Amino acid sequence: MTTSIKETYRGLYHFSPKEKWMNDPNGMVYYKGEYHLFFQYHPYEMTMGLMHWGHAVSKDLVVWEELDIALAPDENGMIFSGSAVVDWNNTTGFFENEPGLVAIFTHHLEQNGSHPVQTQSLAYSKDNGRTWAKHEGNPVLKHDTFIDFRDPKVFWHKQTQRWVMILACGQTVCLYHSPDLKSWTFGSEFGTGIGFHGGVWECPDLFPLNVDGDPSKEKWVMLVSVGDSQDYVEGSRTQYFTGDFDGLTFIPDVDSKEIRWLDYGRDNYAGVSWSDIPAEDGRRLFIGWMSNWKYANRTPAEEFRGAMTIPREIELQSGKDGSVTLVQKPVRELENNRVPVLELTNVSLQEAEKALSTLRLESYELKAVLAFGTSIAFKVRKGGRVETVVGVDADRGELYVDRTKSGMQDFHEQFSGIQTAKLQTQFQGEMLDLHIFVDRSSVEVFANHGQAVITDLIFPDGDSVGISLATDNERLLLASMSVYSLTTSDEVLE
Ligand code: FRU
Repeated sequence: MTTSIKETYRGLYHFSPKEKWMNDPNGMVYYKGEYHLFFQYHPYEMTMGLMHWGHAVSKDLVVWEELDIALAPDENGMIFSGSAVVDWNNTTGFFENEPGLVAIFTHHLEQNGSHPVQTQSLAYSKDNGRTWAKHEGNPVLKHDTFIDFRDPKVFWHKQTQRWVMILACGQTVCLYHSPDLKSWTFGSEFGTGIGFHGGVWECPDLFPLNVDGDPSKEKWVMLVSVGDSQDYVEGSRTQYFTGDFDGLTFIPDVDSKEIRWLDYGRDNYAGVSWSDIPAEDGRRLFIGWMSNWKYANRTPAEEFRGAMTIPREIELQSGKDGSVTLVQKPVRELENNRVPVLELTNVSLQEAEKALSTLRLESYELKAVLAFGTSIAFKVRKGGRVETVVGVDADRGELYVDRTKSGMQDFHEQFSGIQTAKLQTQFQGEMLDLHIFVDRSSVEVFANHGQAVITDLIFPDGDSVGISLATDNERLLLASMSVYSLTTSDEVLE
């Protein structure tokens, strides 16, 4: 795919559709050497509307090839979010000689004069996702009372040898199970009186992870995205719970009572996880939609609107106080596309300032390691009066991204602002690592071993390509500072 990089806000290493509107990632699945990314897609307009499933594939999680639309609306409604699985054992009976892909998605049917109806349906593919047939018995799951009943995430539960579905039911999630993906039995409901309820619950996910990578310490993680509401300036965002799951019921850890966010920026929503090794014991990957329902339909856009975050690997780590935290790091595949620009060790403030002052970059990775307790601020995508500040405020013990001067922001009164994430001291080592990904319309920051993460859209003009450092600490010393330019291999910066 050769993307037209003349479009000012098209990220060079983030997936965005060639044209028109995109929101949630759907059906993330790895099969026969390919990563499949399906996505909420409106092929005719630049805003959310008649939703389809768009489709892209990648061999390396970095270069994505957009394919034909996978699923289009039918008599049961539009195609809302959902997931995809490999039916290895042909539990559905859809396949003959070899396994295939099954998509489980929400049909959203608009009705004149009353609430839309949301039901769950199936489609299957025998040719690696290139063409799809809808199941004749659709929909396979309905509900009489929930108006918001959507976004099924399905996985194979090894212990009980059956499929489990988690889906959003208004302000809770519902869990169902099935032997064949076609007939579903209700298991339990979770969410009353726990977590954040400032908006409708959407796009849940449930998966096991080994704490500190130790197979004897398995925990289940539940992700729940919460929709926008006028009462919260943060807009739509994703919370998580840790706990135990026996195939039927999710029991949250006691410390799950506090609200925990996956990302402290404004633009990582409706994200889902998947695994890239058959069976559930591979690494756990994650990708999110890089926008926010608060302003998603209004962001500056020409040909297309919507991009995904970089793919991330997620892990559970225990802190010094025994608590368990979800951490994120960029997938290692991104390193294959690095072009080193700077690689310095034991850098003084003056050396760092000098080295950065020569750079003119749009899309890059900046890594810095410094003593914990040091304040520092990098200004990225800087030019004229435009700059985005990514910093650490040691007094407050916070990571922050300040996008108040980041470029275009008049498209929504609540876009401008400063986002902060606490640097948890139970993760603290002597040194603090700061890993910043900058692209044409985004910054993604990972700090403190991936414990503090901020993902934010920014809309600087194409000339704002400077980088600088701001600190009043004349004696600042960075253990290391590296900059790598990052583009996908088949694109040339003009
Ligand atoms: C989340 C969401 C889902 C829904 C989809 C529709 O962003 O609202 O709940 O299935 O988007 O495009």
